[in-house]
Amino acid sequence: MIKLNGLGMVYPNGFTGLHPVSLTLHQGQFTVLIGQSGAGKSTLLRCLNFLNHPSEGSLEVEGLGEIKPGPVLREHRRRTGIVFQQHQLIGRHSALQNVLVGRLGYHLPLRGVFPLPQSDLELALECLDRVGLADKALERVDKLSGGQQQRVGIARALVQKPRIMLADEPVASLDPATSNRVLEILSGICKEDGILAVVSLHQIELAKQFADRIIALAEGKVSYDGPPAGLCPQTLHCIYNGEALAA
Ligand SMILES: Nc1ncnc2c1ncn2[C@@H]1O[C@H](COP(=O)(O)OP(=O)(O)OP(=O)(O)O)[C@@H](O)[C@H]1O
Ligand SMILES: [Mg+2]
Repeated sequence: MIKLNGLGMVYPNGFTGLHPVSLTLHQGQFTVLIGQSGAGKSTLLRCLNFLNHPSEGSLEVEGLGEIKPGPVLREHRRRTGIVFQQHQLIGRHSALQNVLVGRLGYHLPLRGVFPLPQSDLELALECLDRVGLADKALERVDKLSGGQQQRVGIARALVQKPRIMLADEPVASLDPATSNRVLEILSGICKEDGILAVVSLHQIELAKQFADRIIALAEGKVSYDGPPAGLCPQTLHCIYNGEALAA
């Protein structure tokens, strides 16, 4: 569970990226952020693990209490898997090596990158299997397709055994069929493991298909927060045209 208590963020140039918002995200819930370009989706996502340091309010995480820089933030980040738009993999390394990078947070920085314990290796292989890539474990990732690379990115996040998963436009560079498959895998795993997921998407149809809850942002403010079924064409029109929603 993550609780945002009046959480807001002002960029150093004085621009308000996120107006103070209070809401609670629940374990096992797949929340999709939607909204026009510049609406504040990435800002909100980045506030959830302090990549953007909130300027006001507080963030509470179940089991950790209020997040503050230091050991609590480090533990929060260790429990939070991140899936990037451009997956940020090391092209010349194998899928397995890339996934193992996700285990580094569990070891002392001075331990060195490799070799990691056998148990990490087994876990990494299991994660690759869960994203349907067991047979590609030893393949260089720059030889994999975009969808396969994104699945390696998911496996890398998963090997952290996260309680929370954050993904900023994880399917932005994929074709529709591959986007569907990648989201199916991501949402399926989050459901199975009871992971709290927050995922930004530009494709409304995908958002409706996979979300338990949709949060729409417009100009740094929440303009809709509810089930996909509540997103009628009129509501969507308001969200994407910055008009106030009828109460
Ligand atoms: N480093 C920054 N300094 C100042 N303003 C910023 C900074 N980063 C983002 N912004 C502004 O904050 C607002 C929200 O940006 P954000 O990246 O969160 O939007 P977004 O909804 O993720 O958009 P997109 O769909 O294009 O990714 C935008 O108006 C953007 O110009
Ligand atoms: Mg963004």
